[in-house]
Amino acid sequence: MSGEARHQLITIKSRREFEKMAVAGRTVATVLKTVKQAGVPGVTLKELDAIAAEVIRAGGCTPSFLGYHGYPANICTSPNSVIVHGIPSDYRLVEGDILSVDAGAIFEGFHGDAAITFPIGETSPEAQLLIDTTERALAAGIAQVKAGARLGDIGHAVESEANVHGFGVVREYVGHGIGRQMHEDPQVPNYGKPGTGTKLKKGMAICIEPMFNLGGHETFVDPDGWTVATADGSLSAHFEHTIAVTDKGPRVMTLLEATEDDLVVTPAGG
Ligand code: MF3
Ligand code: CO
Repeated sequence: MSGEARHQLITIKSRREFEKMAVAGRTVATVLKTVKQAGVPGVTLKELDAIAAEVIRAGGCTPSFLGYHGYPANICTSPNSVIVHGIPSDYRLVEGDILSVDAGAIFEGFHGDAAITFPIGETSPEAQLLIDTTERALAAGIAQVKAGARLGDIGHAVESEANVHGFGVVREYVGHGIGRQMHEDPQVPNYGKPGTGTKLKKGMAICIEPMFNLGGHETFVDPDGWTVATADGSLSAHFEHTIAVTDKGPRVMTLLEATEDDLVVTPAGG
């Protein structure tokens, strides 16, 4: 990755622009909630994609993934050992599967991007621990977000949660800045050293997106050119939020009722 070496262009958003991102973010949250409710045994991933498309349009937004570098669907659906960027297929979910769903929407030119992982019915205790730990790591990363904090603070907080259980931390895919583009500078790794890396400023927005594996961290890209899976076939979980840097701390944009008072003040484990 050449992210550290090249010059970075990190966009600063106004209050007005943040409000647009919050609308996109709220729609993304609604997509994820709706898809999770629909994600029961017997449903196909393509059916979930169709539901997502409807919710995005109903929110007055456009789907950001569709056509992105030729991506053929509205959301990413990544079951079991698929880490990210799974293309919705005719695969029918079965009890005990875990499914990661990643969604993005644009409102008046501004993006929201978020992901969740959930079990289909009941899954194994190890799979559930993987899911819960990855979600906890996202919360720990978000708790680091404030003006003056560094990306290494976030990455370290995220990776520390994986290390508690010896889960593999995916390194090839990272979080990112977001605004008028879905992927902007800076890159936001899920590992790092406290006190190092780019400094956050008010008006920036980033996506933090831990991807943890039950086994090793190594990845494998499917011949379809999109689907990223664990090299060892172990289960993988992914959570993501879009977070704005404000005077008052982190503002999570991808919540169902995102307002400026949605500050995440509870650190994971607290
Ligand atoms: N939210 C995904 C990410 O940040 C983007 C998926 S792009 C798509 O990595 F084209 F694969 F949909
Ligand atoms: Co993202």
